[in-house]
Amino acid sequence: MKKILIINGPNLNLLGKREELIYGKATLEDIKNNCEKYSSKLKLKIDFFQFNNEGEIIDKIQEVEKKYDGLIINPAAYTHSSIAILDSLRAIKKPKIEIHLSNIYSREDYRKKSITSEGVDGLICGFGENSYILGIEAIHKLIYN
Ligand code: DQA
Repeated sequence: MKKILIINGPNLNLLGKREELIYGKATLEDIKNNCEKYSSKLKLKIDFFQFNNEGEIIDKIQEVEKKYDGLIINPAAYTHSSIAILDSLRAIKKPKIEIHLSNIYSREDYRKKSITSEGVDGLICGFGENSYILGIEAIHKLIYN
């Protein structure tokens, strides 16, 4: 069975009670459960993590090459600032996708630039919690097509 790593960045532990109009009512636990259900249908195993610190995100990304077949990452606010996360993504040869709940291109100007997406194969944003499901679908296609 292929193994996928899903990483969530800062403040995503607050989903469900954080800016509900933008991010929806689902908690990160709800999203994790839905991801597990969906990925098992596709015969993918997932490991799902959330970190508030940049260094912990980078440490986890560095495990991908050895331990996983693909990466899905929502870097949250680090999307718009972290060259360190971009560099760690660039070091990975496995399929990798960036996702966002919100459409970052329809929001504030400072969210319209994704630095980290320069290091991934593709970007999915704006579908709420379904961005995660579409991310799983996309990584499955990258692995098998
Ligand atoms: C986000 C978008 C980011 O701009 C923001 O900082 C987040 C969440 C999203 O999933 O829509 O924390 O990554």
